[in-house]
Amino acid sequence: MVTLLENPLRVGLQQEKMPEPQILVIFGASGDLTQRKLVPALYKLRRERRIPPETTIVGVARRDWSHDYFREQMREGIEQFSDGLGREELWQEFSQGLFYCSGDIDKPESYQKLKELLSELDGKRGTQGNRVFYLSVAPKFFPEAIQQLGDAGMLSDPVKHRLVIEKPFGRDLASARSLNKIVQKVCREEQVYPIDHYLGKETVQNLLVFRFANAIFEPLWNRQFVDHVQITVAETVGVEDRAGYYETAGALRDMLQNHLMQLFCFTAMEPPNSLDAESFRTEKVKVLQATRLADLQNLELCAVRGQYSAGWMKGKKVPGYREEPGIDPNSTTNTYVAMKFMIDNWRWNGVPFYLRTGKRLPKKVSEISIHFREVPNLIFQSASQQMNTNILAMRIQPNEGISLRFEVKMPGPDLRTRSVDMDFSYGSTFGFAASDAYDRLLLDCMMGDQTLFTRADEVEVAWQVVTPALAAWDAPSDPTSIPLYEAGTWEPAEAEALINRDGRHWRRL
Ligand code: BG6
Repeated sequence: MVTLLENPLRVGLQQEKMPEPQILVIFGASGDLTQRKLVPALYKLRRERRIPPETTIVGVARRDWSHDYFREQMREGIEQFSDGLGREELWQEFSQGLFYCSGDIDKPESYQKLKELLSELDGKRGTQGNRVFYLSVAPKFFPEAIQQLGDAGMLSDPVKHRLVIEKPFGRDLASARSLNKIVQKVCREEQVYPIDHYLGKETVQNLLVFRFANAIFEPLWNRQFVDHVQITVAETVGVEDRAGYYETAGALRDMLQNHLMQLFCFTAMEPPNSLDAESFRTEKVKVLQATRLADLQNLELCAVRGQYSAGWMKGKKVPGYREEPGIDPNSTTNTYVAMKFMIDNWRWNGVPFYLRTGKRLPKKVSEISIHFREVPNLIFQSASQQMNTNILAMRIQPNEGISLRFEVKMPGPDLRTRSVDMDFSYGSTFGFAASDAYDRLLLDCMMGDQTLFTRADEVEVAWQVVTPALAAWDAPSDPTSIPLYEAGTWEPAEAEALINRDGRHWRRL
């Protein structure tokens, strides 16, 4: 029988306290994210009594919606994309705190109108001037919205006013820097919460607990024992209905620079002195500063892009990226990237980190695998088959868990070995249902805990690391220059070659 002993170690989330009553203002409220994720997450927080009944949500968008219509849309979102409404009284209470304010992001009058509504609501709902402004609009509107919020004096209180910025934060180092400058003009670092929803995932936070609450792994976590590390985030979906955004982003900007880089940081960072936001984020910045693409003189040897062509997914024919609605038929946007990074520090010198992510791959799966070195002197040469090395695999999603692969002797008179897995699964141990991550991050932000949000210098250095690839791939190029992979297959041959050249293979997941 497994005995579960709870350790009060917490990451980010200050569970036992409740945030003060506040107003969350969501810019881009008519969009998908609000209906599918943000409002259902807030509803869940309220159902679990983690946020007070006075919590108020104001949706802002251009469309001419009424408060009631907004409430209706949000109700549908909760019903469709979460565990449902539950008790009707709960919905009644929650929906009383939902408001809508139509406005244009570039018009100062819209901010004045919003400001009036917010102070009226402070009076009615007891929200005491506490505000979180959540920018869930297209990234090109971030600078304008932030500037306007600043000009309207809506970010002037360093304690009561917070700003959440959705990803991507900029589209390269220069634009991230200029966005940071705009932000820094209108508010202080402690008011800013750039969000990466991967940091809200239970399994990502568990990486820290796994590394820093267990004494047995840390001595192995370095160049002496680790041969290489692989980080994979594979998706089955294609571009969906996000052509406009995705054509300007691609997999490198949409996934690798943020989500995979965070997984990378959690795996490679040094132990922080404590879990306060500054110590923790400082360690992430330090590891990123030591990171570079493996061969800057020969980019094609350490950075590969790809784009899906037509293929089959679950027995259904699916179009290629260039045939998707709204996509340029000559597009060279990457829907797949694989990169090899090196970290120039004592712990990791000489250990390659291979990262890959793509859309329309055969499986939705995210995993970090630590591949250990071969044994120094193999005495089982006669065992007739090839000995595998130990692998520690941390499954981020789905089938969340951790497994350790090692060799055992197969029963019988012959000395034959086989690899087996020792497995921990969240599902069977905790009855774990993966949460959407937004509830945790929203709550942290409402509590003023920045640990799980990226700091300004971190965003910049994460862009810096991928800048050589961005520069090469952003240059106008012939449509034939991008390797294609058939939808429903793992990767272009070039990505296979990237790792095979080093005598290694991508893990088959
Ligand atoms: C988003 C990307 O940030 O993450 C999407 O914009 C991607 O393109 C999504 O599909 C993946 O998130 P998850 O949580 O499903 O792995």
